[in-house]
Amino acid sequence: MTSSYSSLDDSNDSNKRTSCVKLLAIVACLTILGVLLAIIVLERPPPPKNHEILPGDDGWSNFSIDQCSMALVESIPEHMKYKDNVTFGIPLEQVWNNLISVATNEVDVVSFYWTLTGEDISVNSSSDMPGRNILKELEELPSRNVTVRVITSVPTVRTNSTDLEILKQKGVHVRKVDFGRLANGVLHSKFWIVDRKHVFIGSANMDWRALTQVKELGVVIYNCSSLAKDLRKIFQSYWVMGQPNSSLPQPWPAKYNTDINKQHPLLVKENNISSQLYVAASPPSFCPPSRTQDLEAILSIIYGAQHYVDVSVMEYFPTTRFDKPRSRYWPVIEDAIKTAAFERKVHIRMLISCGRDSDPDMLPFLQSLASLDSPQQHISIQIKLYIVPVANQSDIPFSRVNHNKYMVTDKVAYIGTSNWSGDYFLTTAGVGLVVSQHASQPEMKNTTLYSQLKAVFNRDWHSEFAVLLDDLGHHPDCSLSR
Ligand SMILES: *[C@@H]1O[C@H](CO)[C@@H](O)[C@H](O)[C@H]1NC(C)=O
Ligand SMILES: *[C@@H]1O[C@H](CO)[C@@H](O)[C@H](O)[C@H]1NC(C)=O
Ligand SMILES: *[C@@H]1O[C@H](CO)[C@@H](O)[C@H](O)[C@H]1NC(C)=O
Ligand SMILES: *[C@@H]1O[C@H](CO)[C@@H](O)[C@H](O)[C@H]1NC(C)=O
Ligand SMILES: *[C@@H]1O[C@H](CO)[C@@H](O)[C@H](O)[C@H]1NC(C)=O
Ligand SMILES: *[C@@H]1O[C@H](CO)[C@@H](O)[C@H](O)[C@H]1NC(C)=O
Ligand SMILES: *[C@@H]1O[C@H](CO)[C@@H](O)[C@H](O)[C@H]1NC(C)=O
Ligand SMILES: *[C@@H]1O[C@H](CO)[C@@H](O)[C@H](O)[C@H]1NC(C)=O
Ligand SMILES: *[C@@H]1O[C@H](CO)[C@@H](O)[C@H](O)[C@H]1NC(C)=O
Ligand SMILES: *[C@@H]1O[C@H](CO)[C@@H](O)[C@H](O)[C@H]1NC(C)=O
Ligand SMILES: *[C@@H]1O[C@H](CO)[C@@H](O)[C@H](O)[C@H]1NC(C)=O
Repeated sequence: MTSSYSSLDDSNDSNKRTSCVKLLAIVACLTILGVLLAIIVLERPPPPKNHEILPGDDGWSNFSIDQCSMALVESIPEHMKYKDNVTFGIPLEQVWNNLISVATNEVDVVSFYWTLTGEDISVNSSSDMPGRNILKELEELPSRNVTVRVITSVPTVRTNSTDLEILKQKGVHVRKVDFGRLANGVLHSKFWIVDRKHVFIGSANMDWRALTQVKELGVVIYNCSSLAKDLRKIFQSYWVMGQPNSSLPQPWPAKYNTDINKQHPLLVKENNISSQLYVAASPPSFCPPSRTQDLEAILSIIYGAQHYVDVSVMEYFPTTRFDKPRSRYWPVIEDAIKTAAFERKVHIRMLISCGRDSDPDMLPFLQSLASLDSPQQHISIQIKLYIVPVANQSDIPFSRVNHNKYMVTDKVAYIGTSNWSGDYFLTTAGVGLVVSQHASQPEMKNTTLYSQLKAVFNRDWHSEFAVLLDDLGHHPDCSLSR
């Protein structure tokens, strides 16, 4: 263990504290020295304030001094052609490369699994080059004195990947969180924290296909230490649970509490754009009460919408998927959608992914929801399937799909890491970023993350790759059409 590593290790922290308490007991006969020692050790400095306070200038009293520049991040699978004048997020490859290159102290990465080279899945494709490059750059970080910590899931995807062994040899610290044992689920969160101030959250695993063969969407936030510190608490909760024989604390110690949540979002202002943001998380067993749960965030966004809710998710099931021995009906999000459409006449558009491996059992649920659509009743629920053409890339398994997980309403943008079915909110780890923004000048309106996300949804909804359920017919690249 290097010293920088052990200073990050919470087990050491708690060991230290336990032995201090013992020491306190032994010197209980109260020599002055003992009392002083106890005071010095137990009186830890107060936790640093989460964000500094600046006087507000347009009605909000608290602003972070952080700049928090946010941008949408995407990867578009190779050989997909959109019309020329459409909006795209910054390429994922560019963002990951940039985050690695700016790192000077610390890089923390969470991913469900790692497969950054073609060999990992026995595929020979030159489209794995960007993934290989990312792996190389990550390997080199420890020699630049950057502490790299990686968290991944048990159980995970079965591959022949050697990424984590290679990284460990180069000095990267790796922990596998046994989410199966701890929460009866898996760890599906995907995020990066760089130097405790830059953050990436999105649908992309550390997989070469995420860079060239799978359609991904995320957000990068630079110079935002308040949010990074907050996300780091979630990282730490995984890190501590990644120790052998860990057990879930009940409740989570106070240091995992957050003061950034739905009730108290972080307020930031940059270029005359005011933003409110917070990170929601799942599963409940990993959230202290102050952390807004991912499901609660999603439901409150749907209930808060007045005009429209646009959703893009890979998979949508009003059931659980992995419950043993059988799945349960789980209409929690379904009810929120129907209520919004029926009672408040909110227009619903859902863009669901269909690929070669999609579960055909999803189709009746989608048809059932779409069947409520009724212009006479002013109920508007439209559902399209987004199909990435496989083209000549058919030899690459589990690729050529839209892996996006986001929602945009007339009020809020939400970018998450979870499919929309029960397990992802009950037992599986995921995170979601919720952002609402206000531009004080009209010409700045189209530069916000919110408006970028809206443009991307509309781009995809109106693209040739999105097909209304009724128009599906036979489509070789979509298993729901068979
Ligand atoms: C601003 O910060 C102060 C002190 O942290 C807090 O008491 C107050 O509720 C905050 N105001 C808002 C609008 O969040
Ligand atoms: C893009 O170009 C097409 C035709 O070239 C036009 O119909 C469409 O309105 C344009 N879209 C935007 C967002 O400018
Ligand atoms: C792992 O490698 C073995 C031997 O080359 C191969 O048979 C197997 O299909 C590979 N597994 C995966 C997931 O690529
Ligand atoms: C991979 O494919 C390239 C050409 O497409 C070929 O030159 C190379 O030998 C192949 N590598 C392996 C390990 O099969
Ligand atoms: C890394 O840290 C070591 C020890 O502090 C120092 O000798 C070395 O020059 C540093 N390397 C870089 C690339 O900063
Ligand atoms: C982050 O802040 C630094 C220092 O103020 C600045 O040089 C850099 O351009 C900022 N990055 C972004 C992406 O805004
Ligand atoms: C984990 O628990 C098992 C059984 O209680 C024990 O044998 C093993 O030594 C423990 N491992 C560690 C690393 O504490
Ligand atoms: C912010 O708004 C003020 C007043 O409307 C204007 O003078 C300033 O140039 C704006 N700043 C940016 C970065 O647009
Ligand atoms: C796949 O098709 C694209 C164009 O559609 C072409 O540029 C590329 O070379 C093809 N790749 C292979 C491996 O055939
Ligand atoms: C979402 O669903 C798809 C299709 O069943 C699956 O491949 C994927 O692992 C699921 N989870 C996430 C977070 O994408
Ligand atoms: C935003 O709108 C202005 C015109 O109001 C236009 O000149 C600019 O290109 C737009 N920017 C983006 C990112 O769409």
